[in-house]
Amino acid sequence: MQSPIQVYLDDLCMRLASTHAGELANYIPELSKADPDWFGISIVTMDGVIYSTGDSEQKFTIQSISKPFVYASALADRGVDFVMGKVGVEPSGDAFNSISLNPKTGAPLNPMINAGAIATASLVQGETTEEQWERIVDSLSTFAGRPLSMDEDVYRSESETGFRNRAIAWMLKNFGIIDGEPMASLENYFRQCSLLVDCRDLAYMAATLANGGVHPITGERALPLEHVERVLSVMATCGMYDFAGSWLYEIGMPAKSGVGGGIIAVLPGRFGIGIFSPRLDPKGNSVRGIKVCQHLSRDFGLHVFSRSGEPGMALGRIYTAAQAPSKRQPSPDMRSYLNEHAHRIKYLCLHGYLAVDGVEYVIRRMIDMAADSSCFILDMHQVDGISDSAARLLHDARLQLAGDNIALVFSRIHGRHAIEHPLSTTSPKADHGYLSFEDNDLAVEWCENYLLGDLARATEPTVSLGDCVMLLGLPSELMALVANAVVKKRFVQGEAILTTGEAGNGHVFFIEKGYVSILVPLEDGAHQRIASLGPGMSFGEMVLLGQTTRSATVVADCDVNCWVLDAKDIDCLAHEAPMLKIILLENISRDMAGKLLRATQWIAALA
Ligand code: DON
Repeated sequence: MQSPIQVYLDDLCMRLASTHAGELANYIPELSKADPDWFGISIVTMDGVIYSTGDSEQKFTIQSISKPFVYASALADRGVDFVMGKVGVEPSGDAFNSISLNPKTGAPLNPMINAGAIATASLVQGETTEEQWERIVDSLSTFAGRPLSMDEDVYRSESETGFRNRAIAWMLKNFGIIDGEPMASLENYFRQCSLLVDCRDLAYMAATLANGGVHPITGERALPLEHVERVLSVMATCGMYDFAGSWLYEIGMPAKSGVGGGIIAVLPGRFGIGIFSPRLDPKGNSVRGIKVCQHLSRDFGLHVFSRSGEPGMALGRIYTAAQAPSKRQPSPDMRSYLNEHAHRIKYLCLHGYLAVDGVEYVIRRMIDMAADSSCFILDMHQVDGISDSAARLLHDARLQLAGDNIALVFSRIHGRHAIEHPLSTTSPKADHGYLSFEDNDLAVEWCENYLLGDLARATEPTVSLGDCVMLLGLPSELMALVANAVVKKRFVQGEAILTTGEAGNGHVFFIEKGYVSILVPLEDGAHQRIASLGPGMSFGEMVLLGQTTRSATVVADCDVNCWVLDAKDIDCLAHEAPMLKIILLENISRDMAGKLLRATQWIAALA
């Protein structure tokens, strides 16, 4: 099956190929040698998938598209204050080659016009212009995800004819904007404009900006996150020069054009777009490139000011522990208390990337439910990440709820950095941080204990062998036979009593004291607890039904005492007293029916 995105791009490229308006740039003579019909489009997603069509691998010189990336390097190398002292961030409303300087300081109005870019090229780190050139090439190559090289012919062509830019460079020297030798910096500027790219490179460069400064394939950080929004802001207001207003009005994506015929557009957190078609409009922007972005913006709703999603989409199902209790077997007192109050434990299933608007909605819903709640479990299984600001809101909400004796815990984060890092950095250790559980069953058991309070902390119950559920109903003479056949064993906290996949050793375990968790392995290496068993419960009994390989891992949650019975002994005993096995199998069937009912409850709650 071909992706509809690919089909759309192929069709768009074909439809717009009939547009022949515009002219090749000729003020740099080498640029006039391009094939006017070259036309390519590439789009890159945040996980690095690329869709391309047309001449997307045709190389051309990056020209002014290099400017935001060199500006990014200057910010990273010299800091915001220093760069702002040399280059402003105000749109000029003038053409790209205008000498738009601050009348008082002589500083270029922004880094996207030639004057600003020439100044910026002199600001990147390097003791010499050769070192600065290395820095520029390395930085743009990191954004592209491959080593970029220069078109010597275009470089020479522009260096020999770039008189206007030379005048600008001397003006900048005159105003103290360029500190060093201005012509040397200008040559670096000409070189950066002559770097060879194709649509794919541009789309990856744009996607790196969209991805917070990290290349979606190489994973290399090309720019500190704090500067990404600064670069995108300047692209949004100045990237298309004296067409910037109409561009933001009609298309609404931070973008940058180049007289080589390239355009990049950036959708923060969503896409990077790279387009190439060398026919330019009078403002120096690719005619087909602008049309491509108009179509993409309108057809895919990409305008940055368009309403993307509803805050409420952050929150999916809400259900309670009355519908989905923990899988442990509580004592009768605990069970009766939970039957009455378990609805006060609420699961909230969160979705997607949690930003402030989504978290504000989740918190508002928790506040609405607070009067009838004691615990909230935020199930993070479907969450991709959370912003620092949203994590801070959740931290504050957690403390405020705690002030009202309402617990807020997390489940199923599974160690994902995009969630764990913001949560842990906004939860100072002083307030003991946040509670997170590997699965919902562990989370809801903790919440049940929180709800039960002292009842849960009652002394650990112990039972006699005859109280064990699987042995209920045995006549005393059969009970005596079993009592003679069992062996007592003790397991320490954390000990794996049985392990998934090991040969069923034919033993059945009856718990006298303590609790065990029944775990099944998940694909990602985590475990899901499917049951928690306490005194009077048994495990391993499937060997009586012919199971030869253990289907789950059993771990002691605390020190556990068990009676252990060998299945072979049961068969021997049952040979003399068939009723023994009949009663055992009846009890096993009844227990399995109870587990099936609880599983059905869970499924209904999650449906
Ligand atoms: O400095 C120049 O004029 C060219 N090297 C770059 C100008 C450019 O790409 C304008 N953008 N549309």
